[in-house]
Formats: sequence, structure tokens, C-alpha cells
Amino acid sequence: MSLIKAKGYNIEIGTGIFKAISSFLSKNKYSLHFIICDENTIQFCLPKLITSCPGLKDAEIIELESGEASKSLEFSAHIWQTLIENNADKNSLIINLGGGVVSDLGGFCASTYKRGIDFINIPTSLLAMADASVGGKTGIDFAGLKNSIGTFTQPKAVFIYPDFLKTLPPRHHKNGLAEIFKIALISDKILWTRLKDLKPYNEEQLIAKSVTLKNKIVSKDPLDKGIRKLLNFGHTIGHAVESLLLGTANELLHGEAIIIGLIIESHISFQKKLISKKEFEEIFVSLKNTFGPEKIDVLEFSAIIELLKNDKKTTKNKLRFALVAKIGSGKFDVEVTEAQIKKAIDLYNTSA
Ligand SMILES: NC(=O)c1ccc[n+]([C@@H]2O[C@H](COP(=O)([O-])OP(=O)(O)OC[C@H]3O[C@@H](n4cnc5c(N)ncnc54)[C@H](O)[C@@H]3O)[C@@H](O)[C@H]2O)c1
Repeated sequence: MSLIKAKGYNIEIGTGIFKAISSFLSKNKYSLHFIICDENTIQFCLPKLITSCPGLKDAEIIELESGEASKSLEFSAHIWQTLIENNADKNSLIINLGGGVVSDLGGFCASTYKRGIDFINIPTSLLAMADASVGGKTGIDFAGLKNSIGTFTQPKAVFIYPDFLKTLPPRHHKNGLAEIFKIALISDKILWTRLKDLKPYNEEQLIAKSVTLKNKIVSKDPLDKGIRKLLNFGHTIGHAVESLLLGTANELLHGEAIIIGLIIESHISFQKKLISKKEFEEIFVSLKNTFGPEKIDVLEFSAIIELLKNDKKTTKNKLRFALVAKIGSGKFDVEVTEAQIKKAIDLYNTSA
């Protein structure tokens, strides 16, 4: 078992996790338990959780459709409605059993219901285990914009059971790996080298490594005012690509869009002389080899720029990026011109 101490809560990882969950529940004596699942986690993860934690046998189950479309106002209303119908009080607990969609949405609903009730995350996808379940960002997509409504609210605990990954489809596995590549690029050269050379750690070690690196950054800056912005590397372009293709036949998973973002933004880092040509090529080749070329239509520069102007990270119309600055470290609030973005997108379009 690994234990990582975050600001105000613990993150525990390992096969013995259900004991830790049971002891958390008996210590806290919540009045009611609500477990949020999606179509897959209700089938693949909930039975194991309930049989291993008898304290949850009377929990109310809230089932969502799986996928990004559930991170919506409509599903938030469904959760709030269920809480009200079941007389959830301030001492109720929400348990988010699922991927990043469930933890973002469930955390958002918990943080707003009666001005905030407790929630814990039991992530079941690699992306949620290695990244989304930690750090306190909650939210939903609104008006076609990713994560445009949300809160910063820390979970009361995060419990990670890597064996849940056994049923995760391979496409979603790669999706989670994308965020691990990102955190390595901006904060850990040794991890990057192992990933690049295809010498990964075992799953539990890899998740613990990624969570430790993320936790180190978010603990210093929980509200995203400074160093936490580093985690946005790949995400300014990545979110724009993700929003652009949302609801189309070419819709991408979050991590797939982030890989495109990492390639384009690494080229911007190169143009800004933050990394050498050799480093850019190393990143480009390694991402291509690991993730393969995603089949997407040519990215339209004008559509991307329009979305960037609406991005939460854009202030006073200035485009500021978090970029890799030497592999293993990063720099945030770097002002980037439209011409530099266009050049990087052109490079992507001609080489993808
Ligand atoms: N809050 C944050 O800090 C943060 C960080 C990164 C990403 N995110 C958000 O996370 C979301 C993406 O998360 P995701 O990739 O986990 O998506 P997801 O929650 O949609 O899960 C991916 C798919 O895997 C299925 N699944 C999950 N666990 C499974 C299991 N054990 N077995 C079988 N199937 C399983 C789900 O049903 C779904 O179909 C995005 O909305 C993104 O914005 C949030």
C-alpha cells in the first residue's frame, strides 16, 4: 500500500484499499452514503466495493450514462434531485466510483449541494487514478466549453485500487497514459526517460509516481494562481481540440486531445527556445510511437484561436501557455503569439 499525504486528505493506493475505506466510513459516521457510478463502473467495480465494504450495503446508487456527455447541467440536476428526494443532509457522503467524468461531476454536485457536503473519490480509470481524482478541481462542461463551470473543492479521501484497471478498455488505458507523459515532461526527467524507453513501472508504482508529482505541484498552489498552471501543459490547445470535436464523428477522448496539445505546444516551446530541436524531436517521436497518429481532420487554425479566446487560461485577450522548458521542467504564463500557434498547428497538420 502507498500513502500520499495531500492538503487535508490522504491518497491511498493498493490491493488492501477496502479495509482503509471501511475504516474511513466507520470513523466518519455519515448519515447517508450515495455512490455515483456510470454504466460500466456499476457493472465492473460496484460489486467488489459493496462486498468488500459491508458499511455500504444500504448506499443509494446513482447511475449515469458513461462518457463526457454526462458532465452536464442536466446530470448535475439529476444528482441534486436524487439527493433531495432521499433527504440527504449536510452529513451525507458522496462516493465517486468511476473515471474522471464521475469524479469531476460528483465532486461538483457535492461541493454545491447545501453549500457543500463531503465526497471521496474511488477512481476506476487510469486517467482518474493518475490525475483527475486528485487536486480538487471539480466541474462540468457548459455552452460547448470544457470545464467552464466548476469549483475547487478537495475530496475527503482518495482510495485507489489498481486492479479495477483490469476491465478498462485499452483505448482508455492509453488515454490515462497521456496525462502521465505530460506530468513527466514538466516535472520528472527520469520518469520521462523510462516512459520513452518503454521501461515503465508496474501499474501501482506508475500511479503513485504520477499522483506524487501532481500532489507536489497542487499542494503549493491549490487554486491555480501560480505553479499549478504548469499542469496545463498540452491542455490549452488540447482543450480547444477536444471542444472543437465534441459531439462530432471525430470526437476524441480527453487524453487523445492532450497528446495533440502536447505535440503542438512542444513545438511552441521549441520556437520559444525553451527546448532544443533535438528535445522537440524526442518528444514528437516518443508521443507518436506510444500513442500512434490519431485520425483527425486537419485542425483549423481559425477555429482553434476562437476557442482559445474563450479559454479560462486566457486573460485580457493575451494568450499565455504553460510550456515544457527543458525536458523534466516547465514554465507557465509564457505569452504566445497567434503566429507561433499557427506555425505549430501547420507543423502538426503536415506531419500527422
Ligand atoms: N479534475 C481534474 O483534475 C481532471 C484532470 C484530468 C482530466 N479530468 C477530466 O476527466 C475526464 C476524463 O476522465 P476519464 O478518461 O476517466 O473518462 P470517463 O470517466 O468517461 O471514463 C472512461 C471510460 O472508461 C469506463 N470505465 C471507467 N472505469 C472502468 C473500469 N474499471 N472498467 C471498465 N470501464 C471503465 C467509463 O465508463 C468510460 O466509458 C474529462 O472530463 C476530463 O476533463 C479532470
